[in-house]
Amino acid sequence: MTSIHLREVRSTDLPIFFDHQRDPAAVHMAAFTTKDPEDRAAFDYHWARILADDDILIRTIVVDGAVAGSVSSYVGELGPEVTYWLGQEFWGRGIATAALAQFLRQQTVRPIYARVATDNAASLRVLVKCGFVIIDESMGFANARGQEISEYTLELQT
Ligand SMILES: CC(C)(COP(=O)(O)OP(=O)(O)OC[C@H]1O[C@@H](n2cnc3c(N)ncnc32)[C@H](O)[C@@H]1OP(=O)(O)O)[C@@H](O)C(=O)NCCC(=O)NCCS
Repeated sequence: MTSIHLREVRSTDLPIFFDHQRDPAAVHMAAFTTKDPEDRAAFDYHWARILADDDILIRTIVVDGAVAGSVSSYVGELGPEVTYWLGQEFWGRGIATAALAQFLRQQTVRPIYARVATDNAASLRVLVKCGFVIIDESMGFANARGQEISEYTLELQT
C-alpha cells in the first residue's frame, strides 16, 4: 500500500521541485506559472522568500519515501489559498487528493480558497474531491499560455 505523508521542506527537496515546475506538460496545465520556469536563480530567490514567510505554510509530499511534490497555502487576494504540484511520475494515483486532504488538517484557517485554470481538469477534480466548490470565474494572464485565460475561484465548504 502506498504511503503518503507531509513533512517540512528540506533544502535537498528544492532541486526536485525545480525539475517538477519546469516540466512543460505540468507548466501548461498549471498555466499561472512563473515567467521562466528554466530560471534557476529566480526559482531559488522565490523559494528562499516563501520559506521565510510566516504567512505561507509549505509541506513536501513524500510518497513511499520519495519526494513527490509540494502543497502550500499563501495569502491571496481573497484570503488564504492552497496550491500544489506533483512530479509527473506521481500523477494519476490519487496522491494530490490525499496530500491536500492531509494538508487541510494541518492548515485549519477558514475560509480557505483555491484558484485553477478552468481547463485544468485534474486539479479541479482534486479540489472538488477535497470539498471545494466553485464560487467565481474570471480572466487572468497565464504566463504559460502567453494570454488571458479563464480561471475558477473555489472555496472549501466545511
Ligand atoms: C493537478 C495534479 C496535482 C493532480 O495530481 P494527481 O495526483 O494526479 O491527482 P489525483 O490522482 O489525486 O486526482 C486527479 C483526478 O482528476 C481526474 N483527471 C485527471 N485528468 C483528467 C482529465 N484530463 N479530465 C478529467 N479528469 C481528469 C482523475 O481521474 C482524478 O479523479 P478521480 O479520482 O475522480 O478519478 C498534478 O497533475 C500536477 O501536479 N499538475 C501540474 C501542476 C498543477 O496543475 N498544479 C495545480 C495548480 S492549480
